[in-house]
Amino acid sequence: MGATKLRVAFIGAGQIAEKVHLPVLSQMKDKVELVSIADTALEKAERLAGKFLIETTFQDYNEMLSRVGPDAVWVCTTNKFHASASLAALRSKCHVFCEKPPAMNEVEARQMLTAAEEEGRILSFNFNYRFRGETLAIKKFIEGGELGEIYVCTAQAIRRRGIPGWGSFTNRDLQGGGPVADIGVHMIDLALHLMDFPEPKSIVASTYRKIGNRKGIGLMGKWNPHGFTVEDSAFGLVKFRNGATMIIETAYALNTKERSVMNLHLHGDRAGASLFPPEVYTEMHGELIDINLPFIETGDGHKRSIEAFVENCFGNVLPIPTAAEACVVQKILDGFYESADLDKTIEL
Ligand SMILES: NC(=O)c1ccc[n+]([C@@H]2O[C@H](COP(=O)([O-])OP(=O)(O)OC[C@H]3O[C@@H](n4cnc5c(N)ncnc54)[C@H](O)[C@@H]3O)[C@@H](O)[C@H]2O)c1
Repeated sequence: MGATKLRVAFIGAGQIAEKVHLPVLSQMKDKVELVSIADTALEKAERLAGKFLIETTFQDYNEMLSRVGPDAVWVCTTNKFHASASLAALRSKCHVFCEKPPAMNEVEARQMLTAAEEEGRILSFNFNYRFRGETLAIKKFIEGGELGEIYVCTAQAIRRRGIPGWGSFTNRDLQGGGPVADIGVHMIDLALHLMDFPEPKSIVASTYRKIGNRKGIGLMGKWNPHGFTVEDSAFGLVKFRNGATMIIETAYALNTKERSVMNLHLHGDRAGASLFPPEVYTEMHGELIDINLPFIETGDGHKRSIEAFVENCFGNVLPIPTAAEACVVQKILDGFYESADLDKTIEL
């Protein structure tokens, strides 16, 4: 690592790099130097290099890694390339901050974990919901024992008509899946994080493609129904070895009331909680009460997530998603699709 600053390079110059990561990192000039950006579509890398004053651009990330020698690499590609790009960066002795989902499958996620361990580098993932103020607040109740044993949770990532009209989010070969892998993964990770990563035992799930495969109203841009190879909604149930259960409900398009729901409901034997908005449901003095937290600072989860990773690169250990945790998340995603594809319960 450079004497004072973390030399950061990007692989993938799409919308998440432009709208989230580069704006945050470019405000961290005392700690971070943006040294290079690679994208197979070179013009996208060049545009962002101009906008964020990044020194060099490449079409081939391997060339970037060998010629620039960054300290840390942000992997912001289409999901299919998370593993190959992260592995190349880790083997080039870089710390890696990879977008979610971790990979296309658990095998890839384990290869990434092994590479990070062998190279002694930090590998983490942008599970930004862990860093939201609501999560940090509810976590205090959980750690304080107020919820007791959490034995059921419902993870929801449901959009009424939110099929992404950009990128390759509707292409299963490139993304690994639809709403489960793209948005459900955030709430699945959040549930595991708040339940202290119980070991999954089995999963049963169903996926549907009922709306995305025809023309329709798009609240997140226009998509091509002919290239729509992912599920548009999916529902699953995970059982854990400690007896707990997670219900997963996720959709890009579903005939339902709300435009969008991203939430996690936790049910413990002493209290329950929802995350967005943060509330706790319990009993006191013989009465049922709801506790809400109207004054917490919700904050920007992405910003805190990025800052925590950077601090870790400087040797300041702050809690961040680990590569081992990512393997558990990926195991659940794999099981979810396998169960739906084979129409049976999968032992995990
Ligand atoms: N954490 C979040 O909330 C969040 C939100 C949106 C997207 N994401 C994730 O970010 C990633 C990118 O999403 P996006 O919306 O920016 O998509 P995008 O399609 O806008 O950008 C992806 C970019 O990767 C580039 N690319 C593809 N293969 C490459 C390769 N082999 N080498 C170099 N570049 C390559 C593409 O040309 C494109 O510019 C996805 O994994 C997505 O799941 C995360």
